[in-house]
Amino acid sequence: MENYNYFVLARAIHVIGVVLWIGGVAFVTTVLITALRQVADPESRLELFEQLEGRFAFQARITTVITGLSGFYMLEAMNAWERYQQPQFWWLHLMTFIWIIFTLVLFVLEPLFLHRWFHERASRDSDRAFTLVHRMHRVLLTLSLLAVFGAVTGAHGLRLIQ
Ligand code: HEM
Repeated sequence: MENYNYFVLARAIHVIGVVLWIGGVAFVTTVLITALRQVADPESRLELFEQLEGRFAFQARITTVITGLSGFYMLEAMNAWERYQQPQFWWLHLMTFIWIIFTLVLFVLEPLFLHRWFHERASRDSDRAFTLVHRMHRVLLTLSLLAVFGAVTGAHGLRLIQ
């Protein structure tokens, strides 16, 4: 198969990874946490959150790796690493930034202390802890959607920044 076909396949895999990953983040943000905040009993709220978000964390870990590998493969295939030095590829910086944040959270911070920290916080003051976790998810979702917008428009020739 020609190299260009591998590139196109990598792009398709990349986008499938993004759909499962950022789609999951969207579900957790707009549906799951919103619904959990309406659960009156703080203990069952936390238990449900840990069960459901824990399952998603598994999916998010796999899709983060797939998205990252296919993304770096495309950069290598296009020999386009110098895009990191060009402001018009701001969406590549944003994609990579989001990927670094999620990789850090999912593979380092969560297993090390974030899980325990949130559990303790939510046991002390559930409302505040869930408001905080909701806000963080909203910020990450907004940045992720901005990256998708920038990637799709930028990769197809729209230059918002010269
Ligand atoms: C290490 C992280 C990442 C790298 C190195 C990377 C790299 C790339 C590259 C090189 C392309 C092809 C651009 C082109 O054809 O000119 C691409 C496409 C794309 N990326 Fe990423 N990416 C990463 C993470 C992400 C993330 C986190 C998202 C979503 C939030 C994302 C969303 C997309 C989308 C939607 C496209 C398709 C654009 C299109 O062809 O219409 N990427 N990425």
